[in-house]
Amino acid sequence: SKVAMEDYDDLMAMAPFDHPCHQTMFWSKTNELVRYCIAKDEDKKDCFTLEDTLLGYILNDKTWCVKKGSIEMFTTFCQEYDSNENTAVRSFWNRVSVAFAEYACGNATVMLNGSLKNPFDTNSTFAKFEINRLEHPKVTKLKVILVGGDKNVQTCKDESLQVLENITRNEGISYHCVPVTR
Ligand SMILES: *[C@@H]1O[C@H](CO)[C@@H](O)[C@H](O)[C@H]1NC(C)=O
Ligand SMILES: *[C@@H]1O[C@H](CO)[C@@H](O)[C@H](O)[C@H]1NC(C)=O
Ligand SMILES: *[C@@H]1O[C@H](CO)[C@@H](O)[C@H](O)[C@H]1NC(C)=O
Ligand SMILES: *[C@@H]1O[C@H](CO)[C@@H](O)[C@H](O)[C@H]1NC(C)=O
Repeated sequence: SKVAMEDYDDLMAMAPFDHPCHQTMFWSKTNELVRYCIAKDEDKKDCFTLEDTLLGYILNDKTWCVKKGSIEMFTTFCQEYDSNENTAVRSFWNRVSVAFAEYACGNATVMLNGSLKNPFDTNSTFAKFEINRLEHPKVTKLKVILVGGDKNVQTCKDESLQVLENITRNEGISYHCVPVTR
């Protein structure tokens, strides 16, 4: 059955973020590189993704759902109970993404994929739940790391990134894009 984002408010309150807020790192479609950030030794860490936080870490790659008319939580047969939408899981990540963005301060960073047609995808979680939740003046700058590779098709001048730059600057946050190769 349906689970709303707000249904996770209590859970969020129980497990607040505690990473340095100025080292908040967002990412979209760069799974391959984000692992390096997560794998870093605790004392050498300089980037924290949502998957590094307690809730994100515990629930990463997990599936769960609730059955209509029941308070029980299930981790199997979810398709049957939850249709194809997987709302329990989706709502969790949406809720925790909003909180993660609201927690950010100083220089926020986002790692985007320069091999894709639209590195900034308006349908991504980053676009829908995070970029609009950065709080100025708490957050002063958004640094885009555009990850290239052999098939790098985009530069920082890509149109989807212009859209991101506009959104960011409209929030009063400065914007900086740097292309990097692996
Ligand atoms: C970027 O996207 C391509 C195509 O989906 C994928 O093969 C590649 O691993 C992605 N890059 C990173 C850093 O995850
Ligand atoms: C943000 O980055 C700039 C350099 O780009 C640095 O001078 C500044 O100290 C950083 N601010 C914070 C709050 O980390
Ligand atoms: C965003 O998602 C909607 C609905 O799934 C789809 O119709 C639309 O083409 C998508 N837009 C982009 C830019 O991918
Ligand atoms: C970004 O904003 C500028 C100035 O407001 C505008 O001229 C431009 O069309 C916008 N670009 C995009 C891609 O939205």
